[in-house]
Amino acid sequence: MKTNRSQVPFSNAPHHSADKAITLAFTGASGAPYGLRLLECLLAADYQVYLLISSAARVVMATEHGLKLPSGPEAAQKVLVDYLKCPADKLIVCGKDDWFSPVASGSAAPKQMVVCPCSAGSVAAIAHGMSDNLIERAADVVLKERGQLLLVVRESPFSTLHLENMLKLSQLGVTIMPAAPGFYHQPQSIDDLVDFMVARVLDHLGIEQGLVPRWGYDQRL
Ligand SMILES: Cc1cc2nc3c(=O)[nH]c(=O)nc-3n(C[C@H](O)[C@H](O)[C@H](O)COP(=O)(O)O)c2cc1C
Repeated sequence: MKTNRSQVPFSNAPHHSADKAITLAFTGASGAPYGLRLLECLLAADYQVYLLISSAARVVMATEHGLKLPSGPEAAQKVLVDYLKCPADKLIVCGKDDWFSPVASGSAAPKQMVVCPCSAGSVAAIAHGMSDNLIERAADVVLKERGQLLLVVRESPFSTLHLENMLKLSQLGVTIMPAAPGFYHQPQSIDDLVDFMVARVLDHLGIEQGLVPRWGYDQRL
């Protein structure tokens, strides 16, 4: 085979290790408002967001927030763009079997991924590398590429199995961030509680935020 060493092909496709891109997954745990608010903040921070939505997450979103997301990714994307009034090109909703999505491969996937809210079922699937749908595959990719994976887990109480799965993931470098807002910022509304959790997620992602007064700086009780 002939080679021509002087020709090095460059791709115009984005390589997300350098870009402001992130994968966000909504799964079927209680806490749909956390996911929506996080999505809103990521888009406001000018991130390209690849959004993955499980079918249970759609049920939870409708039950808790009254927002009905269609099962088709394009239709769900349109509903969310209209709802959040965000630029259409910044939000890409991917289907659960969209194996050609950038998030499905380490060669193109963003280095950061958040599952918010994260069900105990998704924790188990991720902990065992199931990769049976795009959410599980995207998490598996972030793990194998040694990226940043953050799970906003919601269940109560936790079973020993849940705790073992979370321990396993934590030992692999995953941030387990239970949806357990504090009250020391004196929340006046549910939105304040939601913002507390979302602020902690943004802090861990290294994204500037002013949602909640910072302990010891902006607030003296
Ligand atoms: C309204 C509603 C609330 C739920 N809340 C939780 C929860 O807080 N934590 C949890 O682990 N599962 C919860 N579930 C169950 C999960 O949705 C279910 O186990 C599902 O299979 C998870 O699938 P997924 O991880 O692919 O989204 C809830 C289901 C519904 C409909």
